[in-house]
Amino acid sequence: MAEELIISRGASRKQAYEELLPQIQSVIADESDLIANLANIAAMLREAFGFFWVGFYRMKESELVLGPFQGPLACTRIALDRGVCGAAATRKAPILVPDVDLFPGHIACSSLSRSEVVVPLVDANGDVQMVLDVDSEFVSHFSDTDVTYLGKIVDLLKIQHFTLTAN
Ligand code: SME
Repeated sequence: MAEELIISRGASRKQAYEELLPQIQSVIADESDLIANLANIAAMLREAFGFFWVGFYRMKESELVLGPFQGPLACTRIALDRGVCGAAATRKAPILVPDVDLFPGHIACSSLSRSEVVVPLVDANGDVQMVLDVDSEFVSHFSDTDVTYLGKIVDLLKIQHFTLTAN
């Protein structure tokens, strides 16, 4: 396993994601423990981009429960009818929020968070297993590039942990 993240200095966001993806793939490929992989992905995303908060909320008994994350203290549980995380899990689709003040129901775990992207992981049965939540202290800090590449990261997790269905 690689011990050090390598991202070219001055890389664009897209280029940085392109460099990050194979490194994430390599780190999680030989590890079967989901929590270990979520922890390393959160760390790698934060290290690569310096995002304010990066983490996972896992679906547990119809509620989102805080999982591995990097950043300040966060809300522990999120109901599905609350926040950007709840909305993304309910819609089973990513949500990009350029300005959290304009998203009705946004949960301010930190008043410093100004924009946000949430990408759900929907398994082969169509069930949401978790969401990946990335927050910035800057308004309009994210674009479709982030949605696309965070989706690719979620896909790597899906392949590693959620492709098999019970039979
Ligand atoms: N802002 C999120 C809650 C999670 S924290 O930002 C870490 C939301 O509205 O769902």
